Amino acid sequence: MESNEIILRKPTAEDGIDVFDLVERCAPLDPNSSYCNLLQCSHFSDTAVAAEKQGELVGFVSGYQIPARQEPTWFVWQVAVDAKARGLGLAKKMVAEVLNRADMQSVKYIETTITPDNEASWALFRSLAKQLDAPLEDSVMFDETKHFKGRHGTEHLVRIGPFNLAGH
Ligand SMILES: CC(C)(COP(=O)(O)OP(=O)(O)OC[C@H]1O[C@@H](n2cnc3c(N)ncnc32)[C@H](O)[C@@H]1OP(=O)(O)O)[C@@H](O)C(=O)NCCC(=O)NCCS
Repeated sequence: MESNEIILRKPTAEDGIDVFDLVERCAPLDPNSSYCNLLQCSHFSDTAVAAEKQGELVGFVSGYQIPARQEPTWFVWQVAVDAKARGLGLAKKMVAEVLNRADMQSVKYIETTITPDNEASWALFRSLAKQLDAPLEDSVMFDETKHFKGRHGTEHLVRIGPFNLAGH
């Protein structure tokens, strides 16, 4: 009998197309090109996580360490949890899995961007800030008019930290 357990692991390039499909199922996330998802799963696999249940991709977090930052900062690009796996703490577990990796222990900040209407995302990152016992600040990162030229809602930069992973 196959296990019902959800396995968390680093993604590989073979996950790229499944990530593309998952993100498409997870409105309001912006779909990326499949090529972009393949890069997230290959070059950036050390800062990404795939959640697999019975061979099916049910969750994914993409991200990278922001280049040239004095204080190591993990930028969380997208968090996607399949509708049938929501409400079970999977998003938080995936983030924790990445932060627990040995080569992430120097990370002091998490950054992400969120549109004002994405309540689930705000709730997730507020909950993470609480868990990390760290302040959360928000400011405009990409403005609807100035940056998106009216094609997309304003993306707010959410910055959590500083935190000390050794203490968690
Ligand atoms: C947002 C999303 C990733 C949450 O996944 P999840 O596995 O259900 O989240 P978790 O169970 O880990 O919940 C994390 C916290 O957010 C809260 N939360 C989750 N979904 C919520 C919702 N729809 N409304 C309000 N709060 C919500 C939980 O109550 C929990 O808070 P707590 O720790 O204080 O109890 C998932 O709903 C999703 O993929 N949505 C579509 C894509 C998207 O908007 N992604 C967000 C980009 S970051």
